[in-house]
Amino acid sequence: MKRTSLFAAVLLTAAAAVAGPALADGDAAKGEKIFNKCKACHVADEAKNKVGPSLKGLFGRKAGTVEGFKYSDAMINSGLEWNAETLKTYLADPKAAVPGNKMSFAGIKKEDQMEDLLAYLAEATK
Ligand code: HEC
Repeated sequence: MKRTSLFAAVLLTAAAAVAGPALADGDAAKGEKIFNKCKACHVADEAKNKVGPSLKGLFGRKAGTVEGFKYSDAMINSGLEWNAETLKTYLADPKAAVPGNKMSFAGIKKEDQMEDLLAYLAEATK
Protein backbone atom coordinates (compact mmCIF):
# COMPACT_ATOMS: atom_id res chain seq x y z
CA MET A 1 0.00 0.00 0.00
CA LYS A 2 2.70 2.45 1.00
CA ARG A 3 4.62 1.52 -2.07
CA THR A 4 1.66 2.26 -4.34
CA SER A 5 1.08 5.75 -2.96
CA LEU A 6 4.75 6.59 -3.22
CA PHE A 7 4.66 5.48 -6.84
CA ALA A 8 1.58 7.66 -7.44
CA ALA A 9 3.31 10.65 -5.86
CA VAL A 10 6.31 10.21 -8.15
CA LEU A 11 4.04 10.00 -11.19
CA LEU A 12 2.15 13.16 -10.18
CA THR A 13 5.37 15.08 -9.69
CA ALA A 14 6.60 13.98 -13.11
CA ALA A 15 3.29 14.96 -14.71
CA ALA A 16 3.40 18.42 -13.12
CA ALA A 17 6.91 18.97 -14.42
CA VAL A 18 5.88 18.02 -17.96
CA ALA A 19 2.64 20.06 -17.85
CA GLY A 20 4.37 23.26 -16.74
CA PRO A 21 5.39 25.09 -19.93
CA ALA A 22 6.71 28.65 -19.63
CA LEU A 23 3.45 30.48 -20.30
CA ALA A 24 1.47 28.66 -17.61
CA ASP A 25 3.68 30.26 -14.95
CA GLY A 26 2.77 33.84 -15.74
CA ASP A 27 0.08 35.99 -14.15
CA ALA A 28 -1.68 37.95 -16.91
CA ALA A 29 -3.11 40.53 -14.47
CA LYS A 30 0.38 41.40 -13.27
CA GLY A 31 1.56 41.32 -16.87
CA GLU A 32 -0.96 43.97 -17.82
CA LYS A 33 0.77 46.36 -15.40
CA ILE A 34 4.16 45.52 -16.87
CA PHE A 35 2.74 46.29 -20.31
CA ASN A 36 2.49 49.92 -19.11
CA LYS A 37 6.17 50.08 -20.04
CA CYS A 38 5.24 49.29 -23.64
CA LYS A 39 2.05 51.34 -23.98
CA ALA A 40 3.68 54.59 -25.05
CA CYS A 41 4.71 52.80 -28.23
CA HIS A 42 2.45 49.75 -28.68
CA VAL A 43 -1.22 48.78 -28.80
CA ALA A 44 -1.79 45.09 -27.98
CA ASP A 45 -5.41 44.45 -28.92
CA GLU A 46 -6.06 46.60 -32.00
CA ALA A 47 -4.50 46.91 -35.44
CA LYS A 48 -3.16 50.36 -34.63
CA ASN A 49 0.45 51.45 -35.08
CA LYS A 50 2.04 54.05 -32.78
CA VAL A 51 5.78 54.64 -32.37
CA GLY A 52 5.96 50.84 -32.55
CA PRO A 53 3.87 48.38 -34.59
CA SER A 54 0.54 46.97 -33.36
CA LEU A 55 1.04 43.73 -31.42
CA LYS A 56 -2.38 42.36 -32.43
CA GLY A 57 -1.92 38.78 -33.68
CA LEU A 58 1.67 38.74 -32.43
CA PHE A 59 2.08 35.03 -31.68
CA GLY A 60 2.94 33.09 -34.84
CA ARG A 61 3.60 36.27 -36.81
CA LYS A 62 6.86 36.88 -38.67
CA ALA A 63 8.91 39.80 -37.35
CA GLY A 64 8.63 43.04 -39.29
CA THR A 65 5.40 42.29 -41.16
CA VAL A 66 2.70 44.67 -39.85
CA GLU A 67 1.20 46.53 -42.79
CA GLY A 68 1.88 50.25 -42.84
CA PHE A 69 4.60 50.22 -40.20
CA LYS A 70 8.08 51.38 -41.19
CA TYR A 71 10.42 48.82 -39.64
CA SER A 72 14.19 48.91 -39.57
CA ASP A 73 15.95 46.63 -42.07
CA ALA A 74 17.37 44.83 -39.03
CA MET A 75 13.90 43.77 -37.88
CA ILE A 76 12.67 42.88 -41.38
CA ASN A 77 15.74 40.74 -42.00
CA SER A 78 15.86 39.15 -38.53
CA GLY A 79 14.12 35.99 -39.76
CA LEU A 80 12.34 35.70 -36.41
CA GLU A 81 8.86 34.36 -35.86
CA TRP A 82 7.26 35.56 -32.61
CA ASN A 83 6.54 32.92 -29.98
CA ALA A 84 7.24 32.63 -26.25
CA GLU A 85 10.90 31.77 -26.80
CA THR A 86 11.76 34.45 -29.40
CA LEU A 87 9.82 37.09 -27.46
CA LYS A 88 11.70 36.26 -24.25
CA THR A 89 15.04 36.63 -25.98
CA TYR A 90 14.07 39.85 -27.75
CA LEU A 91 12.33 41.56 -24.82
CA ALA A 92 15.09 40.69 -22.34
CA ASP A 93 17.62 42.65 -24.41
CA PRO A 94 16.24 44.08 -27.68
CA LYS A 95 19.53 45.62 -28.82
CA ALA A 96 21.50 42.42 -28.37
CA ALA A 97 18.82 40.10 -29.80
CA VAL A 98 18.26 42.10 -33.01
CA PRO A 99 21.30 44.37 -33.48
CA GLY A 100 20.36 47.59 -35.27
CA ASN A 101 16.62 47.38 -34.53
CA LYS A 102 15.05 50.70 -33.58
CA MET A 103 13.02 49.83 -30.49
CA SER A 104 14.29 52.07 -27.68
CA PHE A 105 13.69 49.81 -24.74
CA ALA A 106 16.29 48.58 -22.26
CA GLY A 107 14.70 45.17 -21.69
CA ILE A 108 12.86 43.16 -19.03
CA LYS A 109 15.50 41.62 -16.81
CA LYS A 110 13.39 39.80 -14.23
CA GLU A 111 12.32 36.29 -15.17
CA ASP A 112 8.99 36.45 -13.25
CA GLN A 113 8.09 39.78 -14.86
CA MET A 114 8.82 38.27 -18.26
CA GLU A 115 6.50 35.31 -17.57
CA ASP A 116 3.73 37.67 -16.43
CA LEU A 117 4.17 39.92 -19.45
CA LEU A 118 4.05 36.97 -21.85
CA ALA A 119 0.91 35.60 -20.18
CA TYR A 120 -0.73 39.01 -20.69
CA LEU A 121 0.47 39.32 -24.30
CA ALA A 122 -0.76 35.81 -25.16
CA GLU A 123 -4.28 36.84 -24.11
CA ALA A 124 -4.37 40.48 -25.16
CA THR A 125 -2.93 40.06 -28.68
CA LYS A 126 -5.15 37.12 -29.72
C1 HEC B 1 10.03 53.78 -27.10
C2 HEC B 1 9.08 52.99 -27.86
C3 HEC B 1 8.97 51.49 -27.58
C4 HEC B 1 8.81 50.87 -26.35
C5 HEC B 1 8.79 51.48 -24.96
C6 HEC B 1 8.63 49.46 -26.66
N1 HEC B 1 8.70 49.25 -28.01
FE1 HEC B 1 8.49 47.47 -28.98
N2 HEC B 1 8.98 48.35 -30.73
C7 HEC B 1 9.19 49.70 -30.91
C8 HEC B 1 9.62 49.95 -32.29
C9 HEC B 1 9.97 51.30 -32.90
C10 HEC B 1 9.65 48.69 -32.92
C11 HEC B 1 10.08 48.37 -34.36
C12 HEC B 1 11.58 48.02 -34.32
C13 HEC B 1 12.26 47.99 -35.66
O1 HEC B 1 11.60 48.06 -36.71
O2 HEC B 1 13.49 47.90 -35.66
C14 HEC B 1 9.23 47.70 -31.92
C15 HEC B 1 9.09 46.34 -32.15
C16 HEC B 1 8.56 45.45 -31.26
C17 HEC B 1 8.25 44.07 -31.55
C18 HEC B 1 8.41 43.37 -32.89
C19 HEC B 1 7.06 43.55 -33.61
C20 HEC B 1 6.97 43.04 -35.01
O3 HEC B 1 5.93 43.31 -35.64
O4 HEC B 1 7.89 42.37 -35.51
C21 HEC B 1 7.72 43.53 -30.42
C22 HEC B 1 7.22 42.12 -30.22
C23 HEC B 1 7.73 44.55 -29.41
N3 HEC B 1 8.25 45.71 -29.95
C24 HEC B 1 7.25 44.40 -28.12
C25 HEC B 1 7.40 45.35 -27.10
C26 HEC B 1 7.02 45.13 -25.72
C27 HEC B 1 6.33 43.90 -25.19
C28 HEC B 1 7.40 46.25 -25.04
C29 HEC B 1 7.33 46.51 -23.54
C30 HEC B 1 7.98 45.55 -22.70
C31 HEC B 1 7.94 47.19 -26.01
N4 HEC B 1 7.94 46.60 -27.24
C32 HEC B 1 8.40 48.47 -25.70
C33 HEC B 1 9.06 50.68 -29.97
C34 HEC B 1 8.91 50.47 -28.61
